[in-house]
Amino acid sequence: MIPRITNIQEYKSSYEQSLHDPDDFWASIAEGFHWKKKWHRIHSGGFEKGDYKWFEGAKLNISENCLDVHLKSSGDKMAILWEPNNPDDAPRSYTYRELHTEVCKFANVLKQTGISKGDVVCIYLPMIPELVIAMLACARIGAIHSIVFGGFSSASLSGRIQDAACRLLVTADGFYRGDKPVLLKEMADVALRETPSIKNVIICNHASLDIEVIAGRDLFWDQLMMHAETSHTAEVMDAEDPLFILYTSGSTGKPKGVLHTTAGYMVYAGFTFLNVFQFKKNDVFWCTADIGWITGHSYVVYGPLLNGATTILYEGIPSYPDWSRWWKIISKYKVNIFYTAPTAIRSFIAKGNDHLNGADFSSLKVLGSVGEPINEEAWEWYHHFIGEARCPIVDTWWQTETGGILISPLAGITATKPSFATLPLPGIDPVIVDTNGTILNDIVTEGNLCIRRSWPGQARTIYKDHERFMATYFTTYPGMYFTGDGCKRDSDGYFRITGRVDDVIKVSGHRIGTAEVENAINEHPMVVESAVVPVPHDIKGEAIIAFVICVKSVSDHQLLAEEIISTVSRLVGPIAKPERIIVVTGLPKTRSGKIMRRILRKIAEGHTEQIGDISTLLNPEVVDEIKWKTLAEGK
Ligand code: WT7
Repeated sequence: MIPRITNIQEYKSSYEQSLHDPDDFWASIAEGFHWKKKWHRIHSGGFEKGDYKWFEGAKLNISENCLDVHLKSSGDKMAILWEPNNPDDAPRSYTYRELHTEVCKFANVLKQTGISKGDVVCIYLPMIPELVIAMLACARIGAIHSIVFGGFSSASLSGRIQDAACRLLVTADGFYRGDKPVLLKEMADVALRETPSIKNVIICNHASLDIEVIAGRDLFWDQLMMHAETSHTAEVMDAEDPLFILYTSGSTGKPKGVLHTTAGYMVYAGFTFLNVFQFKKNDVFWCTADIGWITGHSYVVYGPLLNGATTILYEGIPSYPDWSRWWKIISKYKVNIFYTAPTAIRSFIAKGNDHLNGADFSSLKVLGSVGEPINEEAWEWYHHFIGEARCPIVDTWWQTETGGILISPLAGITATKPSFATLPLPGIDPVIVDTNGTILNDIVTEGNLCIRRSWPGQARTIYKDHERFMATYFTTYPGMYFTGDGCKRDSDGYFRITGRVDDVIKVSGHRIGTAEVENAINEHPMVVESAVVPVPHDIKGEAIIAFVICVKSVSDHQLLAEEIISTVSRLVGPIAKPERIIVVTGLPKTRSGKIMRRILRKIAEGHTEQIGDISTLLNPEVVDEIKWKTLAEGK
């Protein structure tokens, strides 16, 4: 049994213990999992070299912890309840026993296809049960999964496959987002033109779409599974064997392949799921995130299954066939714990409250929020209309790199305050620093958020680029993990995350790097140079504005804007599309040639009075032009 914190005194004492005696603390948590061999050391290494390790010497398999360990007591309990995009299609469900069988079968299929321990398997699937089966089967044989969100473009998929030299791609013919088909296989085929490492493609026939089949390369899920053995002995994994790679955007360059390893990730995902949501044995849990993001990895799949929970998998979007769909799902499955993003809540608010008519929220006990700061209006609406003023809201702050939630209330235990992620979980030692890296010790303060010591779920490296890992997280403030977030602390010691302080933009909770979008924009033949910045957006939280310099004067601005937007959509994905394109003749630069995005941001936000001194710029004269074009152009 994973230990549960049941009241605020226990939280305080666990927290104290976790900092004073971390080894004993984490050993007591790890005891709640199933090990083939226990660790000989809880923790070693540190931030200086980024060589921290957890539960060294231990042997385990995470898929056994998610499946096999539950078979005896709850084999017939529902593990996955799958709700299709179209409410007229048949839902599917898997008990723990059924899911175990499917995972064993697919593990055998992977082996037959020539995949073994340490190989990287790319998974590009919609939100269907096969996605969970494929990821757990990888974990079962010790292959490393690299899941690519189904909304990413061919180019993004291709880049991710190349970076990790994936051997196999698991995909589907396609799926429907509302009534729009998404042609996954077609996109995969384009991506695979540049990925010599891929030997085979396994295709799930999901949406009955016509696809091209490449003989010798393409294989079919159903055919392979039909003949697969139903039993499989899980590979014995070392604690620090890689479990998965997940790409995420940073301030600069290409997306980073964040690497998580087996034991630490497992202990952290399992522990935080139980305690943050105060999950009880028969609760039905629904996290609306796509499995292609870390939230889906940790809280649609691993966290819930490690705890023997019933987890809902919904294929579709909130607005199909209409805006009442999510509420119907909550009533239909009697969801007890519901976890979603502020951007979704804001889109519901914008639709008026008619979609709530007839909804039955009586099963709900706990609500969660994740992905971006939640504004007070969204918090209050969520609290009153969905939680019926009786369900605690856990505002959970964390990142792809953290593996699991770091700062959050414990549901029903920690007193909440709208827009505060409140207090650190046991084992997490957050500090707020100023720009010089001095720790600000006053309780009430504001600055950049760092974490002072390692926790088991922490990413171990950027795949095949440890130098970049060190430079990104451990160099700005030596000895500390730099989160990239700004943060305030109030007189109760509560943390309030204010948003990214680097060149990362959060559009509808999706993490997008300015450099990725700029590189895509620069591919347009008319564009010489570009700079993108975020502006506040009522529903998306942040939207992207692009300033571009063109090779010659632009006659049809509308057409150019459309072309640039479709270029970004094609090269990165629709989620990265700029909201506005502003054509300028220069971008503000420092004498060393660095674009001053801070100035562009102030102009885009309409805070021109806050620009400050521009006399040290290389080209201060461009600022006025940018100001009036921002006011005038393409609104
Ligand atoms: C960034 C990480 C890990 C969950 C999904 C996002 C922002 C996340 C909160 C929150 C304010 C939040 C931060 C963080 N963020 N949760 N509760 N309050 N901001 O993972 O894509 O790696 O993004 O999301 O800016 O750094 P991600």
